[in-house]
Amino acid sequence: MKRILVTGALGQIGSELVTKLREEYGASNVIATDIRKIDSEVVESGPFELLDVTDGKLMSEIAKKYEVDTIMHLAALLSAKAESNPFFAWNLNMGGLVNALEVSRELNTQFFTPSSIGAFGPSTPKDQTPQDTIQRPTTMYGVNKVSGELLCDYYYHKFGVDTRGVRFPGLISYVTLPGGGTTDYAVEIYYEAVKRQAYTSYIQEGTYMDMMYMPDALDAIIQLMEADPNKLKHRNAFNVTAMSVAPEHFEEEIKKHIPAFTLSYNVDPIRQAIADSWPNAIDATAAKEEWGFKPKYDLCSMTKDMLSKLS
Ligand SMILES: NC(=O)c1ccc[n+]([C@@H]2O[C@H](COP(=O)([O-])OP(=O)(O)OC[C@H]3O[C@@H](n4cnc5c(N)ncnc54)[C@H](O)[C@@H]3O)[C@@H](O)[C@H]2O)c1
Repeated sequence: MKRILVTGALGQIGSELVTKLREEYGASNVIATDIRKIDSEVVESGPFELLDVTDGKLMSEIAKKYEVDTIMHLAALLSAKAESNPFFAWNLNMGGLVNALEVSRELNTQFFTPSSIGAFGPSTPKDQTPQDTIQRPTTMYGVNKVSGELLCDYYYHKFGVDTRGVRFPGLISYVTLPGGGTTDYAVEIYYEAVKRQAYTSYIQEGTYMDMMYMPDALDAIIQLMEADPNKLKHRNAFNVTAMSVAPEHFEEEIKKHIPAFTLSYNVDPIRQAIADSWPNAIDATAAKEEWGFKPKYDLCSMTKDMLSKLS
């Protein structure tokens, strides 16, 4: 990777990924793009272009202008939002992806896009979910993610595009608030714990989902993109996770730092149904074996870091 175009760069992942990539590869070599422009480090610390990913022509022009050799395609509508507007989600998630893959094919670049644990469904084995398993999701987001994984594999086999991806679990960060996913509660709980020592979870007690701290997610992206292609048996997309947790586990950990913290529940049936259709705990062995995935943070160290950064 020498010159990287990032779409959806102002989102939860993008805003931290761009900063990290600029540190690693040089500010002028990371071209951040998004459909909106806000006052932020991403816009100010290096090249930024307004780009709607459904506009393939403009994407190609920007990629050519900066002579990029890598595309990191992040722009998407997330799980909970996609369920409230499924047709829009299909057009954005699939239209944006195919445009980005076409630019990658045209310019012969490396390509990264994140899939999700949402690519699994109710018939997927729930515990130690294997890398290669049944994928029949029941959400529009999941349908988009499975289709996206297949499309990325197709571009690799058919056109030789160097596509790589991970299935991210819920990502937790103190920098940018999440953008409408099912695991957003795991970020909100820390903000609310610091602000008012209380949180009302829309996810039911006892609902296990995979999670990971953002610094580990960013390291995983860079490590996978730098990995020796000869070692990759899989490409789109690798299971990655750092912990399998339910709301009460966050409560326990937060109470160690803020004893007055209380957790209550007011379950949102839409997001709960999505959570119930996802695995409890996925198996990341393939990522560990093929490119050395090794998350540094567990629930305990992440909680300590989150609370100290937010306080
Ligand atoms: N955050 C997570 O926990 C998580 C977990 C698994 C997978 N992912 C995947 O990672 C990727 C990035 O997720 P995120 O959490 O940063 O999302 P986000 O919702 O925080 O950000 C998405 C960004 O895309 C931009 N965008 C929306 N429509 C656009 C368009 N038409 N053209 C260009 N930009 C547009 C938005 O302005 C926003 O800045 C997505 O593919 C998502 O499915 C995220």
